Amino acid sequence: MKILFLNGPNLNLLGTREPEVYGRLTLADIEAEVRQRASQLKVEVDFRQTNQEGELVNWIQEAKGKFQAIVINAAAYTHTSVALRDTISAVGVPTIEIHLSNIHAREEFRHKSLIAPVCKGQICGFGAKSYILGLEAAIYVNA
Ligand code: DQA
Repeated sequence: MKILFLNGPNLNLLGTREPEVYGRLTLADIEAEVRQRASQLKVEVDFRQTNQEGELVNWIQEAKGKFQAIVINAAAYTHTSVALRDTISAVGVPTIEIHLSNIHAREEFRHKSLIAPVCKGQICGFGAKSYILGLEAAIYVNA
């Protein structure tokens, strides 16, 4: 099984970006944790980050037929992107929404996720562990 991890804008700054909110691990540290768990679970992982909305759209489109699930931290685009929502819906690859922070416990504009209705489910608030839980959810939805 192949699982595609997608990371949106500013997640390349993890480690130094508001560590009290997002923790001190870098995205590379989180990727290493995901890869370790993925090898225990005997699944393949592709792990990507971009600051461009259109690149996320292209990657989701290209996932069809290549990946059995997508785990996405769309970051700020979670709250703004009709394009991402439409792509997830159009492509139909089972998608898990994840966030490091609990978006429902933060500013009101973060409470709304435009992608949540077209995702299998949402995991948020567990820091880097949200990625591990996302990996397990991706396997679960394919079981
Ligand atoms: C985030 C939460 C979003 O609201 C925010 O824009 C991010 C990160 C998270 O992982 O907690 O960039 O997706």
